[in-house]
Amino acid sequence: MLLNLLLTFTFLMVGVKSDPDSLQDYCVFLPPLSHQQIFINGVLCKDPTQATVSDFKTSALSRPGNTHVKPFMINVTVTTTANLPGLNTMGLTMARLDFGASGTVPPHVHPRASEVTVCLDGVLLVGFVDTSGRVFTQELHPGETFVFPKGLIHFLYNIDTVCSALAVSGLSSQNPGTQIVSLSSFIPKSPIPEEVLKSAYDINGHKVC
Ligand SMILES: *[C@@H]1O[C@H](CO)[C@@H](O)[C@H](O)[C@H]1NC(C)=O
Repeated sequence: MLLNLLLTFTFLMVGVKSDPDSLQDYCVFLPPLSHQQIFINGVLCKDPTQATVSDFKTSALSRPGNTHVKPFMINVTVTTTANLPGLNTMGLTMARLDFGASGTVPPHVHPRASEVTVCLDGVLLVGFVDTSGRVFTQELHPGETFVFPKGLIHFLYNIDTVCSALAVSGLSSQNPGTQIVSLSSFIPKSPIPEEVLKSAYDINGHKVC
């Protein structure tokens, strides 16, 4: 019984943790000299004695992104190991989300990260869908925070049809990955067979036998 509890607890802990822990204080990203031939779980790090304070600072999120790009009218700017090399192995990403009027971050998933979002300006309608199909949705006002569990479909929408909105997110991976549900289905690099999409999305003329 105790062993069972312990095992369950251990599995739960494994299930919710972020990226693997670093074995050193830091592992500042070292850009490869030529095309990288080896692939590791993360990126290479430079000699720790060569690290400088600028490796741990970025202005990447200081400027608003251009939100005039159709169809979503949003712009998401993120920290990466390229613009913030000290981020490597820390299990973190920060994102700046600029919303134009009625801007939408369409339903998407991050396969490797949970996300916590703070609304800084404007009013956002945010939400996620769990694996049983329950939808959790809320209006988020300035200073309010919402959490999107790892791997679940979620969305953010600026309910204001005139004014812009701003939010900041933290994600529990240095490489959260993003799959936008609609784009992944309909504009993938090599298309999903049309018959499959017709059937899956019940698009015109699907024959019922
Ligand atoms: C986001 O905004 C930046 C800065 O204005 C711009 O360079 C970039 O093209 C925009 N990205 C998208 C996807 O609209």
